Amino acid sequence: MEYLTFALAKGRLADKTMELLEKIGITCDEMKEKSRKLIFTNEKLKLKFFLAKATDVPTYVEYGAADIGIIGKDTLLEEKKNLCEVLDLEFGKCRFAVAGKEEIREKLEKSNDLRVATKYPNIAKEYFYHKKHQTVEIIKLNGSVELGPIVGLADVIVDIVETGSTLKENGLKVLEEICPVSARMVVNPVSMKLQSEKIIEIIKGLSKVTEKNTVK
Ligand code: PRP
Repeated sequence: MEYLTFALAKGRLADKTMELLEKIGITCDEMKEKSRKLIFTNEKLKLKFFLAKATDVPTYVEYGAADIGIIGKDTLLEEKKNLCEVLDLEFGKCRFAVAGKEEIREKLEKSNDLRVATKYPNIAKEYFYHKKHQTVEIIKLNGSVELGPIVGLADVIVDIVETGSTLKENGLKVLEEICPVSARMVVNPVSMKLQSEKIIEIIKGLSKVTEKNTVK
């Protein structure tokens, strides 16, 4: 029997995912041991799990190196891969927003001469170019983007906001809401056909424990 392989985003999302999978009888003892291992197996259930950097998870699933991925909607929107998004897992909830200092609000509404710092250039482009029809300069950063408006690199940021404390502690505010974000289950389109029985069983089980329906 073929293995079914899960790619999980390293960190909190992976821990939450394993908690949820355990509720439907999918466990991996090997993963609970503290180690630097990256891939884990449950021989009995013929399952493999590996931990990857969040932004790489869609790539592993797109190429079929993993059949299933559990990843934030933020990464899915940014990476734009050919995947079947099958389930909203209802955890890892946060939102995408445009944030900056209060005094930039007016410029943000009208100006076509705005600099936007972000870890998510595709999402920022989609929002400003296609939704707001506003010409802006997008500056890609890799972390701590809140620094952008503070040190004068950018007027605003496009970023995820969870508790809002990073913005608050740095004198920034949400100025515009973009969209909500949560963890999603994605499946490789070929795996969806070849391993459909096993995968559908997992989707059904998880949608029961998250009390949500599959993504339309
Ligand atoms: C994320 C995000 C914000 C912060 C939001 O950063 O980019 O900076 O969390 O969370 P909050 O609203 O609860 O304060 P992350 O912790 O991933 O670090 P990074 O900026 O270095 O990528």
